[in-house]
Amino acid sequence: MGKIKRKIISIRKLINYWNYLYYVKNKPIVSDYEYDQAVKELILLENYRPDLITSESPTQKINVNIKNFHNSIHHISPMLSFDSIYKYNDLINFDNKIRNIFKVDRIVYCCEPKIDGVAVSILYENGKLKYAVTRGNGYIGENITNNILNISSIPLSIENNITKIPSLLEIRGEVFLIRNNKSNLLNERNNVAGALRKSNLDVSDKKLLGFYCYSADIISKELFFDYHYNLLQYLKLYKIPINKYISCFTNTKDIIKFYHDMHKKKALLNFNTDGIVIKINSFAMQKKLGVTNKIHKWAIAYKFPSHEKITTVKNIVYQVGRTGVITPVAKLSMINIAGANITSASLHNFNEIEKLNIMINDTVIVSRIGDVIPKITKVLLYKRNSNAIKIKIPNKCPVCNSVTKYNSNKTKLICTGKLNCSAQFTELVKHFVSKNAVNIPGLGNKLISKLINNNIISNLIDIFYLKEVDLIKISGINHRLAKKIICEIKQSKKNINLPNFIYSLGINGVGIVTSILLSKFYKNINSLIVSDIKILMRIKGVGLKTAKNIYDFFQDKNNLFIVKTLISKKIGLNLFYK
Ligand code: IVH
Repeated sequence: MGKIKRKIISIRKLINYWNYLYYVKNKPIVSDYEYDQAVKELILLENYRPDLITSESPTQKINVNIKNFHNSIHHISPMLSFDSIYKYNDLINFDNKIRNIFKVDRIVYCCEPKIDGVAVSILYENGKLKYAVTRGNGYIGENITNNILNISSIPLSIENNITKIPSLLEIRGEVFLIRNNKSNLLNERNNVAGALRKSNLDVSDKKLLGFYCYSADIISKELFFDYHYNLLQYLKLYKIPINKYISCFTNTKDIIKFYHDMHKKKALLNFNTDGIVIKINSFAMQKKLGVTNKIHKWAIAYKFPSHEKITTVKNIVYQVGRTGVITPVAKLSMINIAGANITSASLHNFNEIEKLNIMINDTVIVSRIGDVIPKITKVLLYKRNSNAIKIKIPNKCPVCNSVTKYNSNKTKLICTGKLNCSAQFTELVKHFVSKNAVNIPGLGNKLISKLINNNIISNLIDIFYLKEVDLIKISGINHRLAKKIICEIKQSKKNINLPNFIYSLGINGVGIVTSILLSKFYKNINSLIVSDIKILMRIKGVGLKTAKNIYDFFQDKNNLFIVKTLISKKIGLNLFYK
């Protein structure tokens, strides 16, 4: 069998499986992005081999087996979807297409947030909620009436004295997880589906789920509406929840403004949204545009830029930190996520490599939410091929060649080279000159590396013996800059206080807060040097681990020599503490 044919068959299998999990089990295991990418790839492959396209391909129809539903209900009309776009140009094309068809000056679009949750259809008979159904395969869904009764914002009856109640009303909308400001859920639909599947939601779950109606059908025809927007507003009289941001516009400029406004607001909303939906407001026009077997042609989703991208792992490199912890970092083929070019992602520790089951040359999903550092969230195992290389756990430090060992709970791999490891020493110097420590801003990262590589600095004391000529010797440093740095070094001796000095030593677990606590307790550095673990642990906020780190640090002869020299007359750090 040809390579393309094999690939087509395997991707179809995969998409059919995902469809089953999404539509039937309500338990998707892939993000919309990953799903869309696989469908796109299948379409491309099928373009090469159109002879293989059959009506059974998931690009041709939703092919969902619904025999697993406990209790299924046929939808009165199919629950279809709509196409997605990602670019302003696509929006203009959509608008042009509509204008060409109708040849009228004014077209009203109803724009709504696209809510990321689970689609449900609810039937009211004579004003009473009769049943609720999931979308299922679009034609047959699962009866979830018992679960929906628990969502407090969905009215059980729509009786009121102001308006006529249709004898048969079907509303459709999205059940979503109510977010507090802090939550940043990656797989929203999973969580909603999970909560919805429980037949007895507890009180906290009830507060968790919300609902917004986005369409309705007055099946019994007692009431008639010309426009989608008006129908939604009317439903508010029945206390059916309608999203407050829904608005009408007549041109693409205003639509794009709505799109950007919603994108900006996204993090502050109490529902998760992944874009906007643009609908033609007139029901007559909607009818004229019609449907295919999968989508409505009168609506389109304009998605927000995805915070996920697919790329490949070119290599794994190792970073050695100040305390010797070795962190694997994946080097990636460059991708742009929401404006940032990304070429690497930290893997945190070696357990992460095992958890992700990642190899060099793998295809992976990288996710970056807001300004958070990018993270590899998934390996696309179905894309792995024979060039995948297993990642080795280094038994020697990649920088200094010292042996490596695991920490006590086996979470971190550590280089045992201590300050003989140039990576650990470089990180220590960076820390030592930082703002909360000795504070020498002129000594930037690049300069520090050059000074260490040229053997001008080989311990912390050397920093205070730096001369203008040393700095000038190093390319890129002129007289003025060298003078400035020397001046900063002099200044640092006068300005440093006890907490900053303790912090500058870079003892594992001793941040600036602990350094302040230690200073308050000991008042001077000599008392700290001779202290023991028991006494150290009397300080609130200092646990056994940190106490041990501090004690061990001052037991080390080399450390003691450095500290004593720094505070001696020779160097003269003036450790004031009031
Ligand atoms: S209208 C076109 N409006 O998006 C008419 N759908 O594939 C049918 N969705 O699962 C849907 N927000 O549940 C519509 N404001 C909105 C929506 C919305 C989210 C969901 C819908 C469906 C998917 C479309």
